[in-house]
Formats: sequence, C-alpha cells, structure tokens
Amino acid sequence: MKNPWDVCTHVACFEPYEAGLSMEEIREKYALSSVVKMASNENPFGVSPKVSQSLQENISQVFRYPQARNPRLVKAIADYFSNKYSYITEKNIFVGNGSDEIIDLLFRVRVLAGEHNAVAFDPCFGLYVTQAKFHNCELRQAPLNPDFTFNFDALLSLVDEKTSMVFVTSPDNPSGRLASKEELLSVAKALPKTCLLIIDEAYIEFAGKEEDVSLIAELATLENVAIMRTFSKVYGLAGLRVGYIILPEQLADYMWRVRLPFSLNILAQEAAVAALEDEAFKQKTIDTAILGRKFLSAALQELGCKVFPSSANFIMFQPPQGTLGAKELSVKLLENGYIIRSLAAYKLPDYLRVSIGTEEQNKGFLALCKSILSR
Ligand SMILES: Cc1ncc(COP(=O)(O)O)c(C=O)c1O
Repeated sequence: MKNPWDVCTHVACFEPYEAGLSMEEIREKYALSSVVKMASNENPFGVSPKVSQSLQENISQVFRYPQARNPRLVKAIADYFSNKYSYITEKNIFVGNGSDEIIDLLFRVRVLAGEHNAVAFDPCFGLYVTQAKFHNCELRQAPLNPDFTFNFDALLSLVDEKTSMVFVTSPDNPSGRLASKEELLSVAKALPKTCLLIIDEAYIEFAGKEEDVSLIAELATLENVAIMRTFSKVYGLAGLRVGYIILPEQLADYMWRVRLPFSLNILAQEAAVAALEDEAFKQKTIDTAILGRKFLSAALQELGCKVFPSSANFIMFQPPQGTLGAKELSVKLLENGYIIRSLAAYKLPDYLRVSIGTEEQNKGFLALCKSILSR
C-alpha cells in the first residue's frame, strides 16, 4: 500500500548524513567501562576555561531569546580579524548553527532548484552531498587524484554557466591534504564572477601560519571567494554548534534574511565569544595536534600502515597489507574502547581516519593497534 505520508518525494528518498556512533552507543554495544573517541576530530582538551566560565555565567540567561543576528558574536569575529585584515567587517560575516547550517543556507541562497549545479571533489564532506540533493541541485564531483591530492583541472572542467558554487575543503576531510594558495587563487580567478568559491577551512588552524595557508589574506582582491570556519574543532565547541563564513556583503545579507532568527543560541554565542579570547588554549590545542600528528604518522608507518600526509587534526591511513582490513581493525579497536572513523560512508571502505588525541590517547591507540596487528 502506498505510504500516505509519501507526498514529498525528495524527502521520502532522502539519505541523511551518516554520523559515527556516539560514545554512549559504543559503551553500551560492547559493554565497556571507558571509551576513547578519536573519530570526529573534536578537541581532546574539551573547551577553554574561559568558555566553561562563560557557560556558567550565562546559564541564567537561557530563558531569553538570543539577539537576532547574534551581533555580539559577529562583532567579536570582526574584531578578532581587524588587526590583520581590515577589509573584513561585520557586514562580511555570517554566523550559523555550525558550518552545517551555513552549508544548507548556501544552497538556499545560491541555488534555483533544478536549474543550478554545484561542484566539489569526490570524496568530499558529506553535507555538501546531502544538502545539494535536498535542494535539488545537481552536485558535480571531480575525483581526487589516487593519492588524494587535488585535481583542480578536473574540478574546473565541470563548471559551466549554471554552476553557482564550488566547494573546496582545505585541509581536506578525510585525507588531510592542504591545497596551496596558488592553486586556490587560480581556481578563484578561473571561475565566472557569478560562481562562488567556498573554501571550507574547518581545520585550517592546524595547517600552519594563516598567511601561508589561507586565502583570507587575499580576500580584499577576490570578489567570488568565501571562507568558512567552525568553532567545533580548534575551539572545542562541537556540541554547541557555531560556525561562521566570511563572504561578500550582499550574500551575507541574503544569508541573514533566510536564516531562522534564533538558530544560534545564547550559550553558544557567548561561549564562542569567550573562546576567541583564549589564544593560549587555542595554541596548546594546535601544538598538541601537530606533535601528535607527527608521532602517530611515524608510528603507524612503522607498523606498516599507509599513512597520508595531513595538515589537519586527524590522519587518514590504511592498515598494513596482508593483515586485517580497515573494517576489521576498526571493529577490534571499538571492542577495546577506541572509536576511530571508518571511511565507508566516504566510499573509501579500505581507509580509516583517526583524530589526534592527547599524548596519552595517542599512545593508548597506538599500543592497541600494535597488539591487534601483531596477533
Ligand atoms: C570539512 C568540514 N566542514 C564542516 C564541518 C562541520 O562543522 P560544524 O560542526 O561547524 O557543523 C565538518 C565537521 O566535521 C567538516 O569536517
């Protein structure tokens, strides 16, 4: 019998983003007393003490609606950049309930359903795929090179006059590869003026000196580039949901018009403002990730794994040939309380991604890998 609710066919056939299992689900499933999560590239230190203090101080305010358009946070972000990049003003900044909401809104403001297309690499972050589908926007995907470097010629070859957005993630998820500024500049220049290049910099803080790795320093001269960042990774606010994008003024205005007025709540807003005030916590997070990345990359290689160079706070790798497959290894790790990310949802069933943890977590993960692989 036909399902009576099956009216909106684009919803009935919609395949949602596949998130990894939560710590609670894993604890229950494998009857574990403790679990270490190294699967979602979260901050292994949690949040800055300034954020904890802000949360406590603002808990009494949650009966109030946040101020529409979150002006305190927008100003704090503009102030954060004002010394270095005077051309970034409050008018160019849009904030949302995580980058996830921003991605969805970009499709809302940039795409006429059934008419425009968007372009990204394959594989790419899952939300580009799901939201393109939901908004009835054809997503054209250019395969990455076999070593997961970017093939920008292939990407550009998919662009036509109906392409309204091009997404590039740098450093990329899941590979960790960084696109060079020269490459990104030439993509921006090659695109028609009506096509917005969105550089998703969720992990840029882990990639090196900002001026060397991000086009943020060149934004003043680029009319069709947007830079998207998140508070979920280096600032540790994944559960509060805060992302921002720096984009042309007119587009920022459209984003504000269509965003639901209160989607970024008071606690999240104030926590993000506080996070921007703690450079020391941010630097400790970055230093730990870079040290841990070096340590884990070398150690996994020594175990015979194929490890991909990463500029992010995670590493993609393949287990040694002739041992366990990626799926088996991730299940064995899970059974012993370590959650890492199988990349089957990225159509990479032979690859795994591990987030860099604290020194202790990295060593624990490695010791377990060693013991599983030597059995
Ligand atoms: C490349 C990339 N973009 C965006 C996001 C989403 O970030 P947020 O937590 O701000 O929604 C993620 C999260 O993992 C990501 O990997």
